[in-house]
Amino acid sequence: MNSITLTQPDDWHVHLRDGKALARTVPDIAKQFSRVICMPNLVPPVKTVDEAIAYRQRIMQHAPEGSAFDPRMVLYFTDHTPASEVQKIKESAHVNAIKLYPAGATTNSDSGVSDIRKVYAVLEQLEKHQVPLLLHGEVTHSHVDIFDREKKFLDDVLFPVIQQFPELKIVLEHITTSDAAHFVLEQKQNVAATITPQHLLFNRNDLLVGGIKPHFYCLPILKRQSHQTTLLEVATSGNPQFFLGTDSAPHAQHTKENACGCAGCYSAVTAIEFYAQAFDQVGRIERLEGFASHFGADFYGLPRNTAQITLVKEDHIVPERLDYLDDQSIVPLYAGKTLQWKKV
Ligand code: DOR
Ligand code: ZN
Repeated sequence: MNSITLTQPDDWHVHLRDGKALARTVPDIAKQFSRVICMPNLVPPVKTVDEAIAYRQRIMQHAPEGSAFDPRMVLYFTDHTPASEVQKIKESAHVNAIKLYPAGATTNSDSGVSDIRKVYAVLEQLEKHQVPLLLHGEVTHSHVDIFDREKKFLDDVLFPVIQQFPELKIVLEHITTSDAAHFVLEQKQNVAATITPQHLLFNRNDLLVGGIKPHFYCLPILKRQSHQTTLLEVATSGNPQFFLGTDSAPHAQHTKENACGCAGCYSAVTAIEFYAQAFDQVGRIERLEGFASHFGADFYGLPRNTAQITLVKEDHIVPERLDYLDDQSIVPLYAGKTLQWKKV
């Protein structure tokens, strides 16, 4: 197959940041996707519906003229989120979910939840109102190995939450292990997962063999190849519990090429082409539409898009660098390398 036409895809997990960064991130993502779930880990974080609506307005100032771009907002869950905020999310036309970062798990997560048992009253409201809980699924204890943090989260945190709140809608974001894939497969349809392009296309050898490659460093960290293989299997299986979430996150070049480099891969410019490449590599390009364009909307209870996009099999090169802020640059994921699929 040399060409494929899909329903316009959506990105159910992206970092756009704020201020001048939006001039880079918003046009990039809007060229690829219609709806995008905007992560709330700003400094300070987006904690209330009112703050989320104000953030959405700042994002919309950079939306391309005449585009169908529709940012969907998410609140940042803290130890102090009032249960009453859930009702406000339910009533909001633009806010769709709440994101839980275990405190300290990743970029700007210091105000995250310190112990999930402290916020069970809010989870009860989320279950009642069927508002999705989005999870960064890693524990943060210093004694737990970085490669085991996702599995430990499933066993110690998520399993008890699901026992207590069996109807809670949950998205386990950016899964990276076969443990997480199998965990989701064992749950009902109210538990789903997003998968990033980097976790489908790469593994920890890409990050570490032959020298440290900081532009492959993200959290949760890339795992061994057997996990990548399972993620490809479930993403391309046609199971609606798995859908697209890029986790595209801008970090200036000098903050990644650094003795203490930041976590995050910037994939926004060529995201759908990355996914097409991954699906085609396992002979499943015909399954891309469900994963990229249908299952996420269905999970969130939003209508599927009606516009379409076309991808053709044609080599093109990912840009070496992109302008960012006033005088900085971003090195995108797979910079300077060739992709086989191109959005026309
Ligand atoms: O690699 C990551 N970067 N993982 C996250 O969870 C956050 C993100 C960011 O905000 O840069
Ligand atoms: Zn993220």
